[in-house]
Amino acid sequence: MFAAGLLLLGVLSFSALGRPTAHAHDHYDTLHAAPDAMLDLRIALVQGDPKGLETALYDVSTPGGESYGKHLTKAQVEAFVAPKPQSVKAVKKWLAKNNITAAAQSASGDWLTINLSVGQANALLGAQFNEYTHDATNITSLRTMAYSVPSSVKGHLDFVYPTTSFVGPLVSPATVEIVDVTPGPLTNRMTKRKVVTITRTVTTVRAAPTSSAAAAVTPDASCVNVITPKCLQDLYGVPSTPASAGGNNLFVATFIGESADPSDLTQFLGTFRPDVNKRTTFGVQSVDGGTNNRVAATTEASLDMQYTVGIATGVNTTQVSVGTSNSDGIAGFLDVINALIAQEDVPLVLTTSFGFNEKDVPVGLANNLCNAYAQLGARGTTVVFGSGDGGVSGIQNTSCTTFQPTFPSTCPFVTSVGGTKGIAPEAAASFSSGGFSNVFGRPSYQDAAVSQYLSALGKGNQGLFNSSGRAFPDVATQAQRFQVVKGGKIISVSGTSAASPTFASIVALLNDALLKNGGSPLGFLNPFLYQSGASAFNDITRGSNPGCGSNGFTAAAGWDPVTGLGTPNFNRLLSAVTGNK
Ligand SMILES: *[C@@H]1O[C@H](CO)[C@@H](O)[C@H](O)[C@H]1NC(C)=O
Ligand SMILES: *[C@@H]1O[C@H](CO)[C@@H](O)[C@H](O)[C@H]1NC(C)=O
Ligand SMILES: *[C@@H]1O[C@H](CO)[C@@H](O)[C@H](O)[C@H]1NC(C)=O
Ligand SMILES: *[C@@H]1O[C@H](CO)[C@@H](O)[C@H](O)[C@H]1NC(C)=O
Ligand SMILES: *[C@@H]1O[C@H](CO)[C@@H](O)[C@H](O)[C@H]1NC(C)=O
Ligand SMILES: *[C@@H]1O[C@H](CO)[C@@H](O)[C@H](O)[C@H]1NC(C)=O
Repeated sequence: MFAAGLLLLGVLSFSALGRPTAHAHDHYDTLHAAPDAMLDLRIALVQGDPKGLETALYDVSTPGGESYGKHLTKAQVEAFVAPKPQSVKAVKKWLAKNNITAAAQSASGDWLTINLSVGQANALLGAQFNEYTHDATNITSLRTMAYSVPSSVKGHLDFVYPTTSFVGPLVSPATVEIVDVTPGPLTNRMTKRKVVTITRTVTTVRAAPTSSAAAAVTPDASCVNVITPKCLQDLYGVPSTPASAGGNNLFVATFIGESADPSDLTQFLGTFRPDVNKRTTFGVQSVDGGTNNRVAATTEASLDMQYTVGIATGVNTTQVSVGTSNSDGIAGFLDVINALIAQEDVPLVLTTSFGFNEKDVPVGLANNLCNAYAQLGARGTTVVFGSGDGGVSGIQNTSCTTFQPTFPSTCPFVTSVGGTKGIAPEAAASFSSGGFSNVFGRPSYQDAAVSQYLSALGKGNQGLFNSSGRAFPDVATQAQRFQVVKGGKIISVSGTSAASPTFASIVALLNDALLKNGGSPLGFLNPFLYQSGASAFNDITRGSNPGCGSNGFTAAAGWDPVTGLGTPNFNRLLSAVTGNK
């Protein structure tokens, strides 16, 4: 059966990563997998009309167009992504021939899940699944170095997961910093460490009087050292009055057992938002057996929930907690997005602070996930990701010879948020990831803004990045030393992990104003952001994002690959969105 005419999908997609096979083994120990070990395989069928979905997405997301704001229904989106009948037939026939029936399928039929033994999977895919144990975490994954499928499914089957990809376990991105709370210039005393022992919060530090043309209200001088909800409200003009539109919501995706303790939120609100009801809490939705916050609080989830509930005042906020049952982060990313797509009502805003280096995500999976974000956008969700914390070196600071873009930020259908620090002037945080995709081409909405940056850059960083790729981030917010309550103690947290929930909360408050007037939620933001939205941002023109032994990119007038279009000014954004036609 696996004779001539085989399509070596696995091998092809693996080498398409441009990464030697050996790399995958670097951090893994290999063991032969027991033939009766069970495996959940996901099969992606070729979608019927992804181009049509993209066109429909831009139609509903580009201000000025006839269809602007007229988001699609679940059924309309499914009609675009549903595989062609001949594809369903070919794939099901192939499975049936192997005595395999799908355990589950997505609503549109573009995903099949099959539950089978390693022995069956080896036979079905001409594969040799082994057990790989990640050295640092002891997490075990079943993977094969190659697989093949018969030519009868060529053009019908997109890819099978998990097979050849080694994405590596997700790590929690937020960085905890110890801030010495004794008076004095804090900047020199800050070190990055894993353990935190801060017991006091807002420090009053004598600082030079500051003023910022951008700020709606001049923030307190302490905001130079530590960020609180009040700092963000003052700096960006974010209202503190509770949102009140019915049906408004904000969702936060967390992974790898991240947990937020509602009693920490109560303490956080009591300390930093004494004006709001301390009983305000958040919902929890579990995917893949994700935690219901009955375990100890973790940094990332505490940060995410406190800076959504604490900024998007009055907006119904839900943590989507994705379980640890899956061996790499990508499975959780697929599962959370497919779970949300399957809902009748999708989130209006979804923020995620986790991500990957783009080179570690197989191209087929990256395309499929990016298309899933397009599906949510078409239905009215604003999908927001932090850009990453390694400057031009990727999601985290690592050594590299060329700049490492991060995914999902490189997906054209998400809004990527970089990081800033300081008040007057507000400057790029050096860890703020940004750059250019090697997988996704530059979308037309950012063509003018990015071309302008590139022509000013000239030959700078030549050969280190791909100038034709989707450029990110799109926007930025403060991202350094956010005050967070974890386990009853106040800690100081930095990273674009802080920027993503902050920006998402601002979008949720803009949605509130639109919904109250009977309007549509903002949905996929980028075409608006680069059009009339651009002038609603404070242009950040200082700082850079070094990495890979270079100075990285430099923030500049207009869009730049460190802070995007800049940081939000709520009132200007509100005028811009209410003026959208
Ligand atoms: C499928 O099941 C039939 C009937 O039990 C058997 O004859 C056939 O060999 C099986 N095929 C495979 C590929 O396991
Ligand atoms: C797959 O099958 C195994 C053994 O029958 C079972 O324990 C597991 O829960 C199944 N997984 C799914 C997703 O159905
Ligand atoms: C992994 O397992 C080995 C052997 O059981 C153990 O010595 C080691 O401490 C474990 N490492 C982690 C990170 O759990
Ligand atoms: C808040 O959102 C959750 C999840 O979508 C929903 O179940 C709940 O009814 C909402 N609550 C309110 C008050 O709207
Ligand atoms: C980033 O990583 C490089 C090499 O891995 C190292 O030399 C450098 O000090 C790191 N920078 C920071 C800010 O941690
Ligand atoms: C550069 O990016 C484009 C997408 O815009 C991609 O098609 C191309 O393969 C990339 N080149 C390299 C060398 O990665």
